[in-house]
Order: sequence, then structure tokens, then C-alpha cells
Amino acid sequence: MLTKVDIEYAATRLVAGELVAFSTETVYGLGGDAECPSAVAAIYAAKGRPTDHPVIVHLSPEGDPAYWTDYLLPSARRLIDAFWPGPLTLIVKRAPHISMAISGGQDSVGLRCPSHPVAQALLRDFVRLKGGQAGVAAPSANRFGRVSPTSAQHVRDEFHGMTGVTIHVLDGGACSIGIESTIIDLSRGFPALLRPGHVTLEEVANVLGEIPQLPGQEIGNVPRASGMLKAHYSPRTPLFLLNAEEILSVLSVHPANAPMAVVAFPATLSKVSVLPADIFSVALPHTPTMLANQLYALLRRLDHMDMSCILFEALPDISDWAAINDRLRRAAATFLNIEPLHLIAKDNIIR
Ligand code: TXA
Ligand code: MG
Repeated sequence: MLTKVDIEYAATRLVAGELVAFSTETVYGLGGDAECPSAVAAIYAAKGRPTDHPVIVHLSPEGDPAYWTDYLLPSARRLIDAFWPGPLTLIVKRAPHISMAISGGQDSVGLRCPSHPVAQALLRDFVRLKGGQAGVAAPSANRFGRVSPTSAQHVRDEFHGMTGVTIHVLDGGACSIGIESTIIDLSRGFPALLRPGHVTLEEVANVLGEIPQLPGQEIGNVPRASGMLKAHYSPRTPLFLLNAEEILSVLSVHPANAPMAVVAFPATLSKVSVLPADIFSVALPHTPTMLANQLYALLRRLDHMDMSCILFEALPDISDWAAINDRLRRAAATFLNIEPLHLIAKDNIIR
């Protein structure tokens, strides 16, 4: 159980320019003082993240977002009032005194105020000890391109054995939401959704009175954002997004000795008369909230099971599932050039 002393100690490490991984309501973040160049460089180095991919600055509930931007737009104020603290990141124009290092060289900065009590206590202690308008730069605490961590153990697994960097891990338990924050970009003169999340497009549109543009629409020069890369959030095990019929047909020709994971809705699993012994099946929960909460832990668990591949049933293509569909499509994009059947063919099992 974390104590106030543990959190305050972690805040002293941040003030000293070191890295602290901490729980938020979405996923664990790998934090460092946003205005300390060596701390920001250490975050990029630990993640193996290209320096032109910006990081989000986390603010305490009392923090002033206007410190980080030249002028806080009324639309930003409305979204802040509606959704902070919570799982919404806003991209706004970066104030000239804020280092380009946190924004990957762009003229904008990402701001978020998390609702998790451990994150908030850490941010408050950090601001109190450092003084002024301090913020914590924190990307998800995973190696670049990998699945985000939703528990302290996931963070330890990610950076296990890494030399040259010390990461203090604040164990605030499992993350309740389980996928990364919704990102709305307000820096280009019109709102754009950069990453779907728990706060939905409809909820944002209701507050703004207009529908944000979607990724893929003509939104001018899209800033580089690693979560926007086609292939991201990848497990190591090849993952295929298939519809129910495709899953059933792969299972019907499934060769012996090709251990596979099948993650599908109960209705699909119930159509398989006998599941071969080397098929590990997982029944999908029926609500997006429940699946988001379990998704990354599930992908990590399956990665540890030495399967030839993961067959994941495609989710309904409706807005409730949009955020998870986004993550799964990116996870599957890494393996788009592989055929699941090729992979599990008897003589060609990849382990
Ligand atoms: O839920 C979350 O947002 C978590 C927790 C720890 O707060 N953080 C997170 O950070 O997911 P990260 O760095 O893994 O993903 C943030 C995304 C990246 O794709 C990054 O490129 C984008 O936000 N981003 C950050 N600042 C940006 C900016 N100024 N312009 C465009 N994209 C930005
Ligand atoms: Mg990330």
C-alpha cells in the first residue's frame, strides 16, 4: 500500500531530475520534470522513442494550463471545465518559454490533468517542492511501439534489466480505464481528434458545439504523434483481427501443435464444437469499458504464453468501440503482411 511518504519521496526524485513511473486512470506514465532537459532526454532514451514524437505534460488540478500556452482558447477552457481532471489530453499552441524538446520540435504542447489519486498527489507534491507552475512530462511507460502498461508490474517488465537509467515505480494499482487518453488538437484553428479514448467524440462535440475532424480527414499538416502511427500498441505475438467466420474457418483447419490464442465473443466460441487442446480461448466481455480495462493486460499475458498467433475477433464498428478498435487495428497493422494460416501451417510455426 502506497503511503504519503512514498509519494512525496517520488516527488523529490522528480525535482532531482530523475524518472518516476506512476499510475493514472488510463495507463502508467513514465514521468520526468517537463522543464528539465536531462529528465526529458532520459524519458526518450528509456522508451527508445524518436525525439520528434512529443510527450504530454501532466498538470496538478490546481495547475494553470495557460502557463504552457500563449493564450488559452475558450474552446480549451470549455473542454477543461467539462473533462478535467480526467482522460482527455488537449494539444494547444506552445508558449515560447516552453522547451521544444517536449513537443518533438513542434509549436504545440499536449496537456492533461489526470484524475487518479496517486497521480494527483504526486503532481501536487512535485509542484509544491519545485515551486511555480511545474508539470510532469509523461508518455506511457512502455518501450516505443509496445503495449501500454496498466499495472506497476507491467512497467517493471518493460524496463527490466535496462542499464543506465533509474526508474522509481509508484504502484497505484491497476488502471481503471486501461487505454490512453482521448487527444483533441486545438492548435490548428479547428478541433481535431488525434486519438480516440474513453471521452468520446460525441461528448467532445457536445461541449464544443462542433464535431472534431477525424484522423485521416484532410487536417492539414498532421503533427507527428506516435500513437498515430499505423503500427503501434503491438504485442510481440502476431495478432490478427478477423471476423467470426474467418476465425471459425482458421480453427477448422488448425493443425496440431500450433498453439494459438483465440479472443472472441462467447457466441463465436460457442460455435466451435470441440476446441483443440492447444487453443487458448478468451471470451470477450460485452462492453467496451470492460474490454478497455483488460485489453493491455490480456495482450501482455498472451505474449508470455508462447503462442503462434492471436486471433482477435473484430469488434462492432460503432462509436462505443472506436477507441479499442483503433488500438487493435494498430496492433494488427504490424502483422498485416502475414497470413494467419501461413503462420500456423504445420511446418512453419513461428514461436
Ligand atoms: O493516457 C495518456 O495519455 C497516457 C498517460 C500516461 O497520461 N499518456 C500517453 O502518452 O499515452 P504517450 O506519449 O504514450 O502518447 C501521447 C500521444 C503520442 O502519440 C504523442 O505523439 C501525442 O500524444 N502528442 C503529445 N503531444 C503532442 C503534440 N504537441 N502534438 C501532437 N501530438 C502530441
Ligand atoms: Mg504511448
